[in-house]
Amino acid sequence: MVRPAPFSTQTSGDLTADRRYAYGDGALGDGDFVAARDLFAQTLELAPGWPPAHLALAKACLALGDEAAAAEALRQACALDPEDRLGAGVLLAQISGEPVMPDAYVAGLFDEYAGRFDSHLVGALDYRAPEMLKAMLQHGDPLKGTMSEVLDLGCGTGLMARALAGTSMAFTGVDLSAGMLAVAQTTGLYRRLACAELLAFLMREPDARYDLVIAADVFCYVPDLAPVFVETRRVLRSGGRFAFSVQTHPGAGVIIGGDSRVHHAPRQIHDWAAAAELDVRQEIPASTRRDRGIPVPGALFELLKP
Ligand SMILES: C[S@@+](CC[C@H](N)C(=O)[O-])C[C@H]1O[C@@H](n2cnc3c(N)ncnc32)[C@H](O)[C@@H]1O
Repeated sequence: MVRPAPFSTQTSGDLTADRRYAYGDGALGDGDFVAARDLFAQTLELAPGWPPAHLALAKACLALGDEAAAAEALRQACALDPEDRLGAGVLLAQISGEPVMPDAYVAGLFDEYAGRFDSHLVGALDYRAPEMLKAMLQHGDPLKGTMSEVLDLGCGTGLMARALAGTSMAFTGVDLSAGMLAVAQTTGLYRRLACAELLAFLMREPDARYDLVIAADVFCYVPDLAPVFVETRRVLRSGGRFAFSVQTHPGAGVIIGGDSRVHHAPRQIHDWAAAAELDVRQEIPASTRRDRGIPVPGALFELLKP
C-alpha cells in the first residue's frame, strides 16, 4: 500500500509561502475573495505539494462562484492527502452531489473537538439528542430493569451512556476518534470501548449480541446507511431495538449539506429499513441542536428487529 506523504497543517515548510497563505487567510476572513484566491495561488507556486493551500484556494474560488476551479483545487488536495484529513472530499461532494465522508477527516475533526465537545455542544448549541432518544425509547416500550446489552455507535464522549445511566444497561462504545473515546473512558460507564469505524466494527461482532443499538448525531457523518442497517439487524437479538437521530432534508436520497454534514431524506431511511427487514416503530420529526441559533431539521427513529 502506498502511504500518503506526511504534511503539516501548520506550515508548508517554506516561510514565504506560509506568509502568503496567512495573508490569503486574512483576506478570506475579510471577504476579499479575489485577493484570497490570488494569494493562495501564489502560495502554491512556492509550495505546490501542500494540501491546505489547495483547499484554501478551493474555498476562495467557491466564494467567487467558480465551481470548476474549486473542484480542480479540491481534486489536487485529495490527490496529495489520500486519507483526506482535511475533508477536501466533503467539499468536493457538495459540488458534485456525490456524498462522501472520509474517516480520517471525521477522526481529526473530533480529536480536535473532544476537549470542548460537551460544553460547546450541550451549552452553546443546545444539543439534546441523547435525552430525546431516551424519551423516545421510554415511550415506545419502557426501558426495563433487567440487564441489557447496548451498543453505542459513534459514542463520542459518552453523553448517550450518561443519559441512559441507571437503566441497568451494559454499554459497548465505538468511535473513530481516540480523543472522544479518551473522554468516554473517564465516565466509567462503558464496559468496552473500541476505536474503529462503526460499520467495520459491526461486521466483526457476533450475531444476536445486543438488545439495543443506538446512534446519537452520528449518521450525519455516514452517507450510506444500507450496510449499517443490515449489520445492525444481524447483531440485534430478536425483538431488539435500533434508535438513532438523523439530520434531514426535504429532497430525495442523501446529500452533503452546506454545513458539511450528511442529510438523509426520511423516505430513504424507510427504504433502507425495509431492505434490511427492520420495522419502523417510531419516527419523530425533531431538531436535536441549533446551528447559528436556528433549529437543525432532523428526525428520531426507532426500528425493531421482529
Ligand atoms: C456529534 S458526535 C456525537 C457523539 C455522541 N453520540 C453524542 O451523542 O454525544 C459524532 C461522533 O460520531 C463519531 N463518528 C462519526 N462517523 C463515524 C464512523 N463512521 N464510525 C465511528 N464513529 C464515527 C465521531 O467521531 C463523533 O465522536
